Amino acid sequence: MTQPITHALALDRNRDTRARERFVSGLRGFVLNDLAATMRTDFESAVATNLEKEAGDKVLDGADVHRAIRGREIFKAYSSARCTAQQMVWDVVMDSIEKQRGQLNNTGKSLADKPKAGGTLELDPDLEIPRYVEAVDVHLMPGCYYKEYGGEDLAAGALYDQGLNVFAFGAMGRELNDIGWSMANFYKNRFADRRPRRILDAGCTIGHNTLPWKQVFPDAEVHGIDVAAPCLRYAHARAEAMGVEAHFHQQSAEDIRFPDNSMDVVFSSMFLHELPNKAIRQYLAEAHRVLRPGGVLLNMELPPNDRMAAYDQFYLDWDSYYNNEPFYKDFRDQNPKELTVAAGFPADGYFEGVMPRYTYTDEEDFIAMALADPEFGEDTGRLSDVIFWYGFGSVKQG
Ligand SMILES: C[S@@+](CC[C@H](N)C(=O)[O-])C[C@H]1O[C@@H](n2cnc3c(N)ncnc32)[C@H](O)[C@@H]1O
Repeated sequence: MTQPITHALALDRNRDTRARERFVSGLRGFVLNDLAATMRTDFESAVATNLEKEAGDKVLDGADVHRAIRGREIFKAYSSARCTAQQMVWDVVMDSIEKQRGQLNNTGKSLADKPKAGGTLELDPDLEIPRYVEAVDVHLMPGCYYKEYGGEDLAAGALYDQGLNVFAFGAMGRELNDIGWSMANFYKNRFADRRPRRILDAGCTIGHNTLPWKQVFPDAEVHGIDVAAPCLRYAHARAEAMGVEAHFHQQSAEDIRFPDNSMDVVFSSMFLHELPNKAIRQYLAEAHRVLRPGGVLLNMELPPNDRMAAYDQFYLDWDSYYNNEPFYKDFRDQNPKELTVAAGFPADGYFEGVMPRYTYTDEEDFIAMALADPEFGEDTGRLSDVIFWYGFGSVKQG
C-alpha cells in the first residue's frame, strides 16, 4: 500500500482525501496485479493457440498479441479500468494542490532561500521547452511537467510527487526513491574500485532518484538536470527539506552545459522512453562528451522488446497506445547496445542488468541478482507488487 511522503513539502490531506487516494491506489493495484493476471490467463487459454497456429513460421511479437487481444472483454475491462484509474490519480492530487498552492509555494521558497543542505538551483527562463514535452500531457498528467500557474510555482512537482505515490501503490519505495537506491548500489558493486566525484542525473524531475546517489557516495558532487522549472524548484526544496545536498539546473539533456570529460557518472531513470529517437541519440552523445574517459553511463529503463516474450512486449507497450506515451514503443523497439555504440561508446564497454528493488531486498540477494547475467521475465519493468528494474549502460573508452 501507499507509503506516506514524510518531507516538509508533503501536501496536507484530510481524512476524505486520504481515503480517496487509498481507493485510487487500491484500484491501480487491483488492475495491475489481479486484472492483469486474469487477462494473461484468458490470452493463454483462449487466444494463444489459434494465434500461434495462424502465424505458422512467423515469430509473434507484441503487435500481433495486441491485434488478437483487442476484442476480448477482459482486455476492454482492463484498459478501461486502467485509463480511468490513471485519470483519477491526477484528479485526486490536483484537488489537494488547488487548495494549498500558496502554502506549497511559500514552503518551497523558504526551504530554497535558506538551503541548509547546501544545494543549489539554477533556472534558465530562456530555455525552450522541447515540443515532445510541451505538446503532450504525458501519461495523462495535466499540464505535463512544465506548466506554471504563476509566481515561483511548484505545483507540477507536487503533482508528480504525490501523484507517483498514489500511482505506485507502495511499489517504488519510501519517498519513491527505490530506482535511485537500486542504480547507485548496482554501480557501487559493479564498479567497486571507483569513487565517483561528479555525478549527473538527466531528466531528474523532482530529484527523488537523484538523492540516493549522494547518500551512497557522500563525497560526490551530485547534479540533476531537467527542462521543467516547477519540478526543479520542487526538487531543490525537497532535497533541502530532506537534508541532502544536490545541485539542480534547468538544462536540456540534448545540450548539456557541463564541460567535456567532467563527469564520472551520467545516469537517467525512466527518462528515455519519453523522448523521440533523435533526442535519445543526442542525449547519449552528450553523455559521452561530458563523461571523462573511463566514466560510466547508466540508464534505468523499460526493457527492450526483443528480449521479451510476445505477450510481455504487448503488455508493456500498452502505454504507447492508451496512456499518452507516444515514444514508449519506439524506444522499446531499439537495441540499447547499438544506441550506445552510435553515441561513441565502445561495444566492449556495454553492460546491462536486471535487478530486484534494492530497498525491498536483502543486500546480498540484490548484489547477486544485479551482477548476474540478466534474466528477462514477465516481471521485468512491469509495475506490480513484484518488479525487477532493467538497466543498461557503457563505459567510455579510457
Ligand atoms: C518520466 S520523467 C523522469 C522521471 C525521473 N527521472 C524518475 O526517476 O522518476 C521525464 C522527465 O524528463 C524531463 N525531460 C524531458 N525532456 C528533457 C530534456 N530534453 N532534457 C532534460 N529533461 C527532459 C521531463 O521534464 C521530466 O521531468
